[in-house]
Amino acid sequence: MTERPQSGTAVAVVGAGVIGLAVAWRAAAAGHRVTVFDPGPGRGASWVAGGMLAPVTEAWPGEEAVLELGEESLRRWPGFAADLRAEGFDPGLSLAGTVVAGFDRADAEQLEILAGYLHGLGREARLVTGRELRRAEAGLAGAVRAGLLVPGDLAVDNRRLLDALLGAARARGAEFVAESAATVSAGAVSTASGTREFGAVVLCAGAWSARLVPELAGRVRPLKGEILRLRARRGCLPPPRRTVRASVEGRPVYLVPRDGGELVLGATQYEAGFDDTVTARGVRELLEAAERIFPSVAEYELTEVTAGLRAASADNLPYLGALPGGVLAAAGHHRHGLLLAPVTADAVLALLDGKPLPPGAAAAHPDRTHSEERV
Ligand code: GLY
Repeated sequence: MTERPQSGTAVAVVGAGVIGLAVAWRAAAAGHRVTVFDPGPGRGASWVAGGMLAPVTEAWPGEEAVLELGEESLRRWPGFAADLRAEGFDPGLSLAGTVVAGFDRADAEQLEILAGYLHGLGREARLVTGRELRRAEAGLAGAVRAGLLVPGDLAVDNRRLLDALLGAARARGAEFVAESAATVSAGAVSTASGTREFGAVVLCAGAWSARLVPELAGRVRPLKGEILRLRARRGCLPPPRRTVRASVEGRPVYLVPRDGGELVLGATQYEAGFDDTVTARGVRELLEAAERIFPSVAEYELTEVTAGLRAASADNLPYLGALPGGVLAAAGHHRHGLLLAPVTADAVLALLDGKPLPPGAAAAHPDRTHSEERV
């Protein structure tokens, strides 16, 4: 059995997206000596993300383990945000909630299933008519015929969160090395400038993780997502208060409001390798879908188009735990990186300190194979 490092261990964190930064902050706050490797901390897929903290409305039917881990992390989010605020860093957590809009009978049936699922989890969810939904969120299209109010599915401003985590990790003494890791092993990280030794190495390199450890080859892959940012111009209807989700021509679309009249509109989903160019088709599909849901978006200023690479796994669960070579994996978070940051950081801390894992985390151990085979 691999010897577990004790408190005060020199810990390398490879990758500084939301997962790496959350791990770095929590580990440094717990007394570990943390070094983070990333040429551009706080960027990558986390910079592009919509920021939904929505385990049920983001999951696919049958993904029970993904859902359990997501629900566990959602429960941890308010405390995680409060801890960051207590350290002087506001992550921009929004408690406004989520609504799901439906256009036809098939959508309405899906919303009923979703409501039943949420009720089964003890979560609040209320089915409403299109008119009631428009009363809750002015500006939704007249074609919206049914809706579901899900107050417990939250959102966070991804960029404020990344700034907050970066600040908090630095304030807790984490060292940042602005270089990519070329190779990693259980006790060392090599970059272009040399090799450094550590008591533990945590791999949080998102879609690039499989390039760094052979054990994840073929198990973590990039999944491209294009996202748009828009801003309400003077005289335009302001963005919805809550996150609005819908399925348009079979594709999931979301509109997530940010402070200051900004709206994040996402996201496409393509298997495109490491290609992260934004395509005209992606932008067109997103804008057409958004107009069907919230027509005023057509008058908004389009301020940004970006693509990011989600780190997809075969069964949509991340890999959390020691790989056979001893590297600790915290990678493969699929569409759920921001949601799963708190539970992932707590799981890594438990692994570092030899403590019990949070509920739901054991199912994400990298030695699982049967759940991957089913997909
Ligand atoms: N979680 C949103 C997305 O992956 O598009």
